[in-house]
Amino acid sequence: MRILLGVGGGIAAYKAAELARLLMQEGHQVRVIMTDAAQEFVRPLTFAALTGQKTLTDMFAIESAIEHISVAQGHDLLVIAPATGDLIAKLAHGLAGDFLTTLYLAFTGPVVIAPAMNVNMWMHAATQANLETLRKRGHRIVDPESGYLACGMTGPGRLAGLETIAAAIGRELSKRRDLDGETVLITAGPTQEPLDPVRYISNRSSGKMGYALAEAAAARGARAILISGPVRLAPPRGVEVVSVRTAAEMREKVLENLEPAGIVIKAAAVADFHLSKVPDHKVKKTAARITLELDPTPDILAELGRNKGDRLLIGFAAETQNVEQEARRKLESKNCDMVVGNLVGGETGFESDENEAVLVMRTGETISLPRAPKREIADRVLDEALKLRLALYAAHGR
Ligand SMILES: Cc1cc2nc3c(=O)[nH]c(=O)nc-3n(C[C@H](O)[C@H](O)[C@H](O)COP(=O)(O)O)c2cc1C
Repeated sequence: MRILLGVGGGIAAYKAAELARLLMQEGHQVRVIMTDAAQEFVRPLTFAALTGQKTLTDMFAIESAIEHISVAQGHDLLVIAPATGDLIAKLAHGLAGDFLTTLYLAFTGPVVIAPAMNVNMWMHAATQANLETLRKRGHRIVDPESGYLACGMTGPGRLAGLETIAAAIGRELSKRRDLDGETVLITAGPTQEPLDPVRYISNRSSGKMGYALAEAAAARGARAILISGPVRLAPPRGVEVVSVRTAAEMREKVLENLEPAGIVIKAAAVADFHLSKVPDHKVKKTAARITLELDPTPDILAELGRNKGDRLLIGFAAETQNVEQEARRKLESKNCDMVVGNLVGGETGFESDENEAVLVMRTGETISLPRAPKREIADRVLDEALKLRLALYAAHGR
């Protein structure tokens, strides 16, 4: 998982370095953000060396104008340890005067807060009221331990044990494992239909949306099988990738892997036409004009729609206009449970890292997903798919 570790300006800041190491040993990627005060106690270099990633410290010395947003969107959990009294107050009230507090406002995932401070600061009504606000917001507070404090006093205020903080993080992350025990079959990318041994027709699909879906499904505990056309993407972590080239190969591999799948997501941009009889040799440049006679490729989605059993079938509709209308038409004609309609040919869609989509459901509902990174869109599609399945079970007992 990708974890953001926010470090506040308390004595216990040095312990955050150990926490970063512990989380990395557990297999997580860790990105550290330090407040100004935190840097009085530990240098950013310590964390950069431990995590292998630049420590984020300054809102205005950054590579991209919206780095706090993109960093927030690219991570699964935010842990703040140590959280000072000051930081807790800022979080509770939504003050966003530095990188960490701005990022907190932009972050939509689970938040774990491990406070550490002097016992009187901890017991203060202001601190306790702020903590109550954060608890009500759904954040997990890892209460400090009692003991001898750096200030010389004894009582609650010492940062919780690192194992305790790591366990709380683990519990928050596992909440998202709502696809445990499921198999999700996903198709991605374009297909290539040969015209002769060296030429082919294809389309601009990059495969990024399908890969993001497979990565999200695997992160949520599913066995994710990804049938992928030719793309330039690394296999996502924990995903079984089956590479294919043509629409016919894609159909074959989809059917071969269909049996265990409870959810099937067809994000691939499968060619609609192909050359049935591919010449054995390269076509020479002799005639001034040639005519290609193309035949339709197998309609995999329609075939799945006829044989889906009690699987949840999700199609994609990449359109250049009338997205919602086309998505609904596809939902009906292919017997899908959901169709993700997206506008292609502009800034989002094919090749882009971002997407915006409209989800058209069998229940008649339509949900618009505003522009966001494809990985985030992927999680939203899975969220809605699970809700839809519950609604369909309730309505039809399937
Ligand atoms: C030596 C020293 C130790 C401190 N330790 C803590 C602490 O453990 N917890 C705390 O809440 N504040 C502590 N403070 C006060 C914070 O540094 C101060 O409130 C600061 O504004 C917090 O900034 P931050 O919100 O960026 O963490 C300490 C200050 C000093 C000078």
